[in-house]
Amino acid sequence: MKTIDELLAEGVGGKRVFVRADLNVPLDGTTITDDGRIRAVVPTVKALAEAGARVVVASHLGRPKGAPDPAFSLAPAAARLGELLGTGVEFATDTVGDSATATVAALTDGQVAVIENLRFNPGETSKDDAERGAFADRLASLADLYVGDGFGAVHRKHASVYDLPARLPHAAGYLIANEVAVLKKLTEDVQRPYVVALGGAKVSDKLAVIDQLLGKADRILIGGGMAYTFLKAKGYEIGKSLLQEDQIPAVIEYIERAEKTGVELVLPVDAVVAQAFPDLKTKAPAGATAVAADAIPADQMGLDVGPETGALYASKITDAATVFWNGPMGVFEHPDFAEGTKAVAQSLVDSKAFTVVGGGDSAAAVRILGFDETAFGHISTGGGASLEYLEGKTLPGLAALED
Ligand code: 3PG
Repeated sequence: MKTIDELLAEGVGGKRVFVRADLNVPLDGTTITDDGRIRAVVPTVKALAEAGARVVVASHLGRPKGAPDPAFSLAPAAARLGELLGTGVEFATDTVGDSATATVAALTDGQVAVIENLRFNPGETSKDDAERGAFADRLASLADLYVGDGFGAVHRKHASVYDLPARLPHAAGYLIANEVAVLKKLTEDVQRPYVVALGGAKVSDKLAVIDQLLGKADRILIGGGMAYTFLKAKGYEIGKSLLQEDQIPAVIEYIERAEKTGVELVLPVDAVVAQAFPDLKTKAPAGATAVAADAIPADQMGLDVGPETGALYASKITDAATVFWNGPMGVFEHPDFAEGTKAVAQSLVDSKAFTVVGGGDSAAAVRILGFDETAFGHISTGGGASLEYLEGKTLPGLAALED
């Protein structure tokens, strides 16, 4: 994989360089609630601009339906990128239309433009190779070189991620190079004990990675909404908690396989429950109580792991040499249900292990809950991307940069 440093050494002055970033940041209206992904691409954009390139930054944001939708405009993210660069950026109000063409044509050496949300064009995410290719052709006409640096999107076979690099000389940006180097440490050269903490809502999103990790990790700690499907599989009553009933057979198989292979699969021993999902806007008290994992009342739902589980998981992390954490332990956006996620984050901070926080939600949780980012070994910008990497899948956006 060619690196951006090699590209810079060859000279990028006066060249139009298309940077595929992942500026898919959480927004409250037009307010960015976590700008981690924008900060992560700054070194690449800065290096190119300082070397005299005319930089065209592109990204998706959210999941608009292939047509312009103001709720998903990249304008706030572009403005923030301009602030972080300290130079401001130009903004094109379309992807490959008149605005993008004129904006890119007007760039001078060292200037940066951001084009509008790539998913406003149906060609970006199309399953049809020809439709994606046609959009990639139009994107290619905006640039001379391509730098892939949107790590969070490398698992998507999308026009700007997969088809465009085939049309332009290309290299990997600093963020992608760094993310891949870290994930390689977890897959090729892992230091033990290797502990993985997995949370998040759905078991189905995590099945493939659990399958892989059962052969690699020493301990797997389960939390978040998906823990209740595991508890149900053990025969516990889980009240109104989130349940993916169709996943129970797979979960039972994993519990049995873990026992056979000696992997410690650790489940919550208690839960913080309430009668209803809390109001995340008002954050009004939700009537939360902690109960044993096998005593969740029929009219209550589990919304966080309980304090005993927090302490148990901390004890499982304390002697680790490597820790990978993906997915919040509970509804951390509400103070009544944030303690489990805080406990896991704090254990990573306290441990001497090489710690990796994988993913959009857990990375955002770390920052929103006020942890010092530098206390972690690495905070990945990719949720699905880092999981799919650990699953051993070929990621289209990385494969495209290899050729
Ligand atoms: C993410 O948030 O994980 C990436 O930006 C990819 O977004 P997507 O899941 O909508 O493709």
